[in-house]
Amino acid sequence: MLNDVLEINGRTLKNRLVLQPMEGCDCLPDGSPSELTLRKYGKAAKSGAGTVWFEASAVCPEGCANDRQMVITEQNVDAFARMLDSMRKQSPTDQTYILQLTHSGRQSVRPIVVYRNALYEKDRPVDDDCVAEDGYLELVPEMFEKTARLAVRAGFDGVDVKACHGYLLSESLSAYDRPGKYGGSFENRTRLFLDCIRAVKPALPGDRLLTCRLGVSEMVPYPYGFGADEQGRLDMTEGDRLIGLLQDEGVHILNVTVGNPYFVPHINRPFRRGPYVPPETPETGLKRLEDIETHIKREFPRLVTVASGISYYREKVLDEAEKLLSHGACDLVGIGRMWLAYPDIYNDYLKGAVERRKCCLTCSKCTELMRLDAPSGCAVFDEYYRELYRRLTK
Ligand SMILES: Cc1cc2nc3c(=O)[nH]c(=O)nc-3n(C[C@H](O)[C@H](O)[C@H](O)COP(=O)(O)O)c2cc1C
Ligand code: SF4
Repeated sequence: MLNDVLEINGRTLKNRLVLQPMEGCDCLPDGSPSELTLRKYGKAAKSGAGTVWFEASAVCPEGCANDRQMVITEQNVDAFARMLDSMRKQSPTDQTYILQLTHSGRQSVRPIVVYRNALYEKDRPVDDDCVAEDGYLELVPEMFEKTARLAVRAGFDGVDVKACHGYLLSESLSAYDRPGKYGGSFENRTRLFLDCIRAVKPALPGDRLLTCRLGVSEMVPYPYGFGADEQGRLDMTEGDRLIGLLQDEGVHILNVTVGNPYFVPHINRPFRRGPYVPPETPETGLKRLEDIETHIKREFPRLVTVASGISYYREKVLDEAEKLLSHGACDLVGIGRMWLAYPDIYNDYLKGAVERRKCCLTCSKCTELMRLDAPSGCAVFDEYYRELYRRLTK
């Protein structure tokens, strides 16, 4: 199954494996790919995966989470085109390239928030000046549209309007108490996100793909997160309603994720080791992800979906991917940390030669690097990041 093609919007995804977006925080000051960025995506090109979902790239300077975030602009679009050309030459599989578009919102260098959130602000205080006015939010869809046009010019096959992990569009979904057109009712809270989807659509001609990485629930207690009750337990009522609207808007692929990595990181990436001790076993988290993905696929059989969060399975990861596909939990399977650690895993899998000793340990060091405001990569298997991690944590 993993090796099956998938036809969508007149294009063929060469297999069911997706390399998930993994922010490297390693671009040049103008947002274009650095040598490190090119090195990472060069490995992605040779990985054999049918789809590479590029990392979060900001739609405006003030929406950057750090000064090395990927940003595509009029001035640097050719650098992205060269990167994609080079990847296409190196790829044996005629890959599909999707660029994730984001506004980092609360995680921007200077936070821009949709509402004051007491839970998050314990760790990262903000003041009322950080609350975006309606006039600013009204400009955001155009930022997504312009960036989508640049992405198409560079040669990306699709864009992702990112609404997950607590960034601006995701946060707007839980603006229960915000007054005005972006807060309160379901219609108002989904306005910003849906306006961005609608703005991006005309920027995607022909067989280009409109995709969305959606946090279907943040699993952060109501009223501080989307899709959860007062105890932070999953509630898919609004998530389902929103997915239905995305389907109606013509979204081609829904990349499903859950949780908020700044508050409940174990939910979207079950892990073995890390500075934060989760209240549940990784197996519980993996089961929850699969249940949610299965539920979505059952409710929205026509929508092409991507599963997430499975790197914990280590050398069994692609066998588990096959099971998710054959159980009908999804149409495509994504791997995140695993591809940073072991970019050749799929090629080895096809040869029946996956090596346990090369597999991601889900040790969270790549996330730690990011939180240390450093370039992020696999600090176990890649010498550059191993040395960087050692230097920053000694
Ligand atoms: C270092 C790091 C960077 C990430 N960057 C992004 C990103 O840019 N966009 C995004 O949607 N998810 C991002 N994620 C989440 C991953 O795409 C993925 O959902 C998560 O790691 C769980 O999948 P896995 O178990 O295969 O790693 C990141 C995760 C890590 C650890
Ligand atoms: S640092 Fe490497 S081994 Fe550890 S979780 Fe990240 S990708 Fe996996």
